[in-house]
This record gives sequence, C-alpha cells and structure tokens, in this order.
Amino acid sequence: MRELKKKNKVIVSAPGKLMLLGEHAVVYGYPCLVTAVNNRLFITAEFETGDSDKITAPQVKESNFVKETISIFKRKYKITSPVHIETRSEFSHTVGFGSSSAVTVATLKALSVLFEVPLSKKEIFDLSYQVVLAIQGVGSGFDVAVADYGKTLYFIGGGKEISPVLCPKLSLVVGYSGVKADTPTLVRKVKVDYDKNTSKINKIFLEIETLVKKGKVALIRNDLITLGKLMSRNHTLLKELGVSTDKLDHMVDRAVEGGAFGAKLSGAGGGDCMIALTSVDKRDLVVKAIEKAGGQIMDVQVNAEGIKIENGFN
Ligand code: MEV
Repeated sequence: MRELKKKNKVIVSAPGKLMLLGEHAVVYGYPCLVTAVNNRLFITAEFETGDSDKITAPQVKESNFVKETISIFKRKYKITSPVHIETRSEFSHTVGFGSSSAVTVATLKALSVLFEVPLSKKEIFDLSYQVVLAIQGVGSGFDVAVADYGKTLYFIGGGKEISPVLCPKLSLVVGYSGVKADTPTLVRKVKVDYDKNTSKINKIFLEIETLVKKGKVALIRNDLITLGKLMSRNHTLLKELGVSTDKLDHMVDRAVEGGAFGAKLSGAGGGDCMIALTSVDKRDLVVKAIEKAGGQIMDVQVNAEGIKIENGFN
C-alpha cells in the first residue's frame, strides 16, 4: 500500500478548450481540431486530516467529477489516505469551455504528484476519459486530451490519435450565446438521427472529416482565408445536423458580414459559444457585429499550455 506523504500541498491547473473544427463527427471516430484556451481551472490537493475525502467545489457538477477521479485513482493505486481537493476556475461551467474535463485531468495530475505515482500524459488521458465516460456516458475525449496536452491538437475520437498541430497566433473572437448547452443530450439527439438515417448523417460526417484534414493543413500554413471558409462550411453542416440555434446562426452570420474569414458554433451546439476567425485589423468590427447580434464577447487566447503544476513539484 502506497502512503507516501512528502508533499503536503499540490496546485495544478488545466486549460479550457474551444473546438475549431469537427464536433459531433469526432464522437463517431472522425478527427477534430481543438485548441486550449488561456482560461484555466485550478486544483489544490492536500492530505486531509479527517477520516474521509473532502471536496470544496463551487459546482456540484465539478465535485462529481472530482469524486469519481479520486475513487478511480485510489482504487487503481491502492491508496487509502483521505485527501482534500479544492477547485477554482477562471471560467464559468456554463460557457462550454470544458470544465468537467479540465477538473478531471487536473485532479488526477494533482493526486499523482501528491501520492508520487508518476503518470504519463497518455495515462492521464486514459484514466480521465474513463472518469468522463463513467459520469457522462458519452463523449469523444477531445476535451480531456486538450486539457492534458494543451496547445492545438488533431484528435481522433477516443484518443486513437492525439497529435499537436503547429498553430499560428490565431485571432479568434469568441461570443457566448447566453445559453448553456447540454452536451450529452445533443450527442444523444445526433445518435438518434444517425440510427434513423445513417447514410445521410455519415455523409455529413465524411465531409466534416475532409474539412478537418484541410483545416489542419491550412492551420500549419497559416492560411486563414481557407481556414475561415472551412469553419463557415462546418457551421452549415452542423446546422444540417440540427444542433445549431437561431441565436448562434445570427451571431455567425453577422460575424462573417462584419469581416471575419469565417465563423461557426464551437462545441455541442444548442448554445455555448461561437468562434469567428478574423484578421487583426477587422477584429473590432467583428466584435461589434457579434455584440450587436446579442453575443457576449469572451476574452480568450488560444494555443495555451496544457496541464501545469503551479507550485514547483514535478
Ligand atoms: C462537444 O463540445 C463536442 C462533441 O463533439 C462531443 C464530444 O466530442 O465529446 C459534440
């Protein structure tokens, strides 16, 4: 039984995410492009003096993920010492930046440092994905991967491929629709349609796969015009999948009219955020256009660092 107690307190952070291209199709084993954002979620892990684990998390949802992570970690590594985990986030769980996956990955990393169980990034991905599936039942794991590895990733559903993509400094404007999306419900809705009309939905997924692959090349070449067009086409395909909303469509259309290279919803749809790719000089116009369409602008930088130990332990 491992009960090492050399480190008393570990602070770990993990980034939130934005889907650049490929949502929904990625659940069916197709690729996507996802980027980490500079808005982070922090975990403090300490040995607990009481008899049982303690979780201090403002959100019940977050605390469920922390609870499951502690339980899977302790079972796997035969640990019995109680821990205290506290969460703090720079972004609200309502905006769709992936607080569940960030909290899971960060908790696992913090536990691994506290109990001195070295885990590779792939091991953190596999265990965290197990936690997310145990609670949500569905999901491709792209959000878990980017919280862990950070930067911008080409990701294939389930983690069959997790490759970093060299990404230029993208000028993305992010607009929040004001509505919280229910990702598992939307994923299940697409599944119902997929089962009813597999060839139609597969055709959409195959086109999404093609545009993700082209998007990867465009990103590497810093070809923002092509990338923007691919984003807009991806939005049209998501509309055909039935996951967009009038508000998201409105924000996307106005952003493109305002001068963006392209725009799309980002994530499951049904609400959350949209993203618009702009040149630096058109940025203000695009911001105004999205605000006029009722969107709330989020201050976000992309291509952020993955999991990070904040207080000096490695
Ligand atoms: C949700 O942000 C993105 C989806 O593709 C679900 C997933 O990949 O887990 C809809």
